Amino acid sequence: MSQLFELTPLPYAFDAVEPAIDALTMEIHHDKHHATYIANLNKALESQPQLHGKSIEELLSDLNAIPEVVRLAVRNNGGGHANHTLYWEILTPGGAKAPAGELEKAIRSVFGTLDEFTGQFSNAGLTRFGSGWAWLVMDAGKKLKVYSTANQDSPLSQGDIPLLGMDVWEHAYYLKYQNRRAEYIKAFMSVVNWDFIAHNYDKAM
Ligand SMILES: [Fe+2]
Repeated sequence: MSQLFELTPLPYAFDAVEPAIDALTMEIHHDKHHATYIANLNKALESQPQLHGKSIEELLSDLNAIPEVVRLAVRNNGGGHANHTLYWEILTPGGAKAPAGELEKAIRSVFGTLDEFTGQFSNAGLTRFGSGWAWLVMDAGKKLKVYSTANQDSPLSQGDIPLLGMDVWEHAYYLKYQNRRAEYIKAFMSVVNWDFIAHNYDKAM
């Protein structure tokens, strides 16, 4: 069987966002955790040839179309693949350190100020009980929203387009920050590549 989904190498060095996120965390997170989601997604899809060739976005956008026998595996591991792919792109070194242009205008119109947005987004990650993600998404009405999801659930499965995603699973921060999720969130926000988020925003519009 040909490979369905493949792990692409991290397009920058593991230590590229130190000290915010340490190299060993990045390496294990990418090479072990993300790789495992892909391996388990491929395994789930093995018995479902009619789904081969569909993009990860197509699979997650219509989970009801996935046969029940593999639906949860696709939701968890397909979500894990899509979410982490976005996460690596968001952390691409360089780029703007704050939102600008149309994205900034949209954030201000919904949240009032950039600080208010950052506060709401950070809080979504901080208050997610257990494992999950905080999101800035564009909904079907082209409106920006902040919320969190449990586990690896993707905003795509509820009809939203993820623009900014923050992994708050312990595996994303435990080596350096242990139980101090708030410190990781602050550090993560300091290394977000806002040019990439703006690109996502323009594409979604
Ligand atoms: Fe993760």
